[in-house]
Amino acid sequence: MATVLLIGIAGTIGQLLAESLHREGHRVLGASRDPELARIRLADHPAGDEVELRQLPASSATSGDLAVLVAEADVVVNAAGAAGGLGIRLADAAVRAGRPLLDVEPEQPHIAAVFDGHHLDASAANVALVPGAGLQHAIGDALVALAAATVALPAEAHVAYTFPDRGATLARASAGRRRSAAEALGHPVESLVRGDRTDDHPGEARRLAWFPRPVGPSHAAAIGGGEVRSVPSHLPELRTVRTYLAVPTWRAELLQAAANLARYDRTRRMVARRLERDRRAFGPAVRRTTRWGCVAEVEGADGVARAWAYGHDPYALTAATVAVLADAVLAAAGGDGPAGVLAPSQVLDPRELLDRLTERTDARWSRKVPDRG
Ligand SMILES: NC(=O)c1ccc[n+]([C@@H]2O[C@H](COP(=O)([O-])OP(=O)(O)OC[C@H]3O[C@@H](n4cnc5c(N)ncnc54)[C@H](OP(=O)(O)O)[C@@H]3O)[C@@H](O)[C@H]2O)c1
Repeated sequence: MATVLLIGIAGTIGQLLAESLHREGHRVLGASRDPELARIRLADHPAGDEVELRQLPASSATSGDLAVLVAEADVVVNAAGAAGGLGIRLADAAVRAGRPLLDVEPEQPHIAAVFDGHHLDASAANVALVPGAGLQHAIGDALVALAAATVALPAEAHVAYTFPDRGATLARASAGRRRSAAEALGHPVESLVRGDRTDDHPGEARRLAWFPRPVGPSHAAAIGGGEVRSVPSHLPELRTVRTYLAVPTWRAELLQAAANLARYDRTRRMVARRLERDRRAFGPAVRRTTRWGCVAEVEGADGVARAWAYGHDPYALTAATVAVLADAVLAAAGGDGPAGVLAPSQVLDPRELLDRLTERTDARWSRKVPDRG
């Protein structure tokens, strides 16, 4: 039985994850800024009574304080996001305490900061840190690997996500998801273009992304994705990696305009406050019916291969992804598994990750090799 420290246990992903970790026989230590409230929120869960709760002094805790908490566990999951520097201090703490960390924060600036700031120390400490361990961007990372395996000399990868339901926007996302997006406002979109990292405005680069039916080909606009950092770790031959979100053209224009405004401190703060305050309907019914899809298109010498995955409930998929990756990290811990800041595909074979997700959720995946005539 492994001990899993779950930061943000009272949140949407935290509760889903506590449930599945408990079902699999793990001891769950949950950290919350308000353990009493967390206990109330967990009361209706089968795992509720068994979870041990810890106080998380989120804003005041140093990475040294967090390392004491982290050292109680075999593996740490950050399901609270990166806001206020918590994500980075947890990465510091995991390295100090020598414990693997899986982090579901999906925003690119945080993922890039973990790759830039922790790879050497985590490698030296023989610790695995896996940022972007949820739907975004573990699924894109795995799909790129699966598509790249079917083309000769893979050179370019384009990853697009879609949330095709009307209203499945940030306005109807969890508070934590909106807080993450607010924190990333004003940051450029980083891409890898012919071997160089370049910065663009969100929405500036566009592409027709070839989702399978019933979604079909969709206009997609550039957003920051973790794949730009994770994919080159295991597929260094890919010289171009770009990430997108499928949006109608008018919304891509809006995204670009909002990104331009967010360069100014005052407007950025205003938009961030608006995002964080938004209280439109979000709950289990909205969550369960929200569709998601992801397609990775990889171009090589003999054509383009596509791999895609789709399903419902981005939050349940994220919780399932992190649970599957946690199993893989635990199995490798203490042995000669990979260390450093790792791509999800370096922790678990991408096909195995997707197959396990199809057993646990309604996710489905497939791929199409290049048409070689
Ligand atoms: N990778 C993906 O595809 C994906 C998908 C969905 C969400 N996410 C990310 O997952 C994270 C959690 O999302 P969620 O939907 O579970 O959000 P949520 O329902 O709002 O829960 C977040 C939890 O984090 C804790 N928290 C909030 N602010 C905090 C702070 N400043 N410091 C420490 N803890 C804080 C809160 O717990 P307490 O108040 O009990 O401390 C809260 O219950 C976010 O970063 C979100 O962007 C990723």
